[in-house]
Parts: sequence; structure tokens; C-alpha cells
Amino acid sequence: MFEGFAHVWTPVVLASKLRTAPLAVEVAGTKLALFRDGRGGVGAVMDRCPHRGAALSLGHVTNEGCVACPFHGWEFDAGGACTHVPFNPGAKRDLLRTVAVPARELGGLVWIYTAPGRDAPTEPSPPEGLVRAGLRRTYTQRDWSTHWTRAMENMLDSPHVPFVHRATIGRDQSRRMTRDTAMVMRWIPADHGGRIAMTFDDRPEVELLEFHRPNIMVLKIPIPGKVFRMHAVCVPVAPRRTRMIVVGARDFARLPLLDVFFGRTNDRILGEDQAVLESSDPPEVPPPGDERSVPSDAPTLAFRKYYFEALRDSHA
Ligand code: FES
Ligand SMILES: [Fe+2]
Repeated sequence: MFEGFAHVWTPVVLASKLRTAPLAVEVAGTKLALFRDGRGGVGAVMDRCPHRGAALSLGHVTNEGCVACPFHGWEFDAGGACTHVPFNPGAKRDLLRTVAVPARELGGLVWIYTAPGRDAPTEPSPPEGLVRAGLRRTYTQRDWSTHWTRAMENMLDSPHVPFVHRATIGRDQSRRMTRDTAMVMRWIPADHGGRIAMTFDDRPEVELLEFHRPNIMVLKIPIPGKVFRMHAVCVPVAPRRTRMIVVGARDFARLPLLDVFFGRTNDRILGEDQAVLESSDPPEVPPPGDERSVPSDAPTLAFRKYYFEALRDSHA
């Protein structure tokens, strides 16, 4: 289970997508059924009934907050225990469990811990912009046809901005840069992963980007006296599929009407990245020695090192 992405907390889907019916979600090649447990919590179980293999996500959620299989109606709670087997009152239900993984709802997202079991050794620790009170947030989600590692590196990669985004967020930089412009990137290790300091030409150094293990980028857009952040989560779905979740957070222009504007801007920028990313070959980032790199690639190489050391060979 969770090949190459085990034993980590990750957001998997916008919480707003999880309503009264179970929701099918694939994470790192593992199919899960998510559901609300009726007590304010979220359940996540293998989307494969232990009886005859039907997808539990095609079933329904009972009044008790269990997921009921669409085939013969077996019911399972958020811990994976079998709570009801129709027509078989004497069934040894403790032998009929399914596999659950820990799940939480936090910051408008559903998170799972990528290992089977009732308990996780830690709790998720989201970037504070996802959970701080008083911020207005916008949420976008879309799927890309690429491996999540290419998407994650793109989010930590500043030198692409004046090229891929020359019509939007990179316009200013693409006009100012010359063929002699030097961009200097510094990777600063942090408890959550790392911070990226950047300067080019004679500009003062700025720290705008953060990496939060295993798969979250935070961009702190500098507006004096204001909070304006973008969070991008690259969720591994399958070897060539990544779910991009983008959460904007701001403490100004709070009118809900303006969410449409902020949402559209995010969509446009993501669209600019998508075409280039989906063309990257191979889809999964290779070992650093297999591609040519330069000093301004320091942050993406730091991510690649973490990926190869901690995640790529992991399984649960
Ligand atoms: S397949 Fe799920 S109850 Fe039979
Ligand atoms: Fe980009």
C-alpha cells in the first residue's frame, strides 16, 4: 500500500467534496472510500469490501456513521470494524474487518496518514495559513497527468516563473531580466522541510517560498501589512496522476464575491504550469545524476534528495 509515499500525513481532497455519500479517492495507487463518521470525524477504509471485493464508495453512509457495502450491505466503522452482516446474526464479525487508515479534517481538507491502522504516531501539522483564524480562503482542485514529484518540484522552482508565467505572475521579472541576470537561491533547512531564499541582480534577498514535507508548498506574497499566501499540495494519485490542491489565504479584500477573482487567477496560473509539467519525461523525477542541473536548481535538488532518501522506497 502507498508505494513510494508511506508513513506520512497528506491532504487528499477538499473537505467540501465529502458530503453525505462515501467518496472514492485514490492515493499513491491505493483506493480508499472516505466518509463522515457521524461524530464530526472522517473515516477512510480500503475501497474494496473484504466479502466479495465490491467498492464500498458505491454504498451509503448509515445513520450510525458507518459505510455500508452496496453489494450485500455489510457495514464498517471508521476504524475498519465490521459492525453489521445482514442475515448472519451469528457471524464472527471480528474476523470480517476491513483495513482503515487514520483520517482527519483540517483546514478545509481531508488528510490521511499513509499506513494502515487505527492510530497514527503523530497528528498532521498543516502550514499555519491553512488553519489560522480570520483569513479568507479560496480552494481549487484539479488533476494533472504527471507524477507528483514533477509537480512538487515545479512548485519549488523559481527560475521557471518568467518563462512559464510570462503573461501573469512572471511578467515583471521577464521584462527586467537580461541575459546576464544571475539568480541566487538558498535552501534553508527547517523543521517542516525547508525555506527558500532568493535574490537576483542587486535585489535584496527575499524568503517567499517554503516546503512542508511531504508535499506542500507555501508562497508568501509580500504585500506590506497584509497576509496573502498560496498553498499548493501535490497529492500522489497514480504513477502518472497528481491531484493539485491550491488554497489561497488572505486577510484583505474579504468580500466573498472576490473569491471568484482569486480562484480564476489561481486556475490560470495552474493551467500555465500544467502543459509544461505534463511534457516532462520521465514523469517521475529521476536520480539527480540523470539530469543536468545548475546552482539555481538548489531547492528542487533538496526536494529530490528528500524524496529519494525518505519516500521513494517506502511502503506500508
Ligand atoms: S461484497 Fe461487500 S457485502 Fe458482499
Ligand atoms: Fe509555475
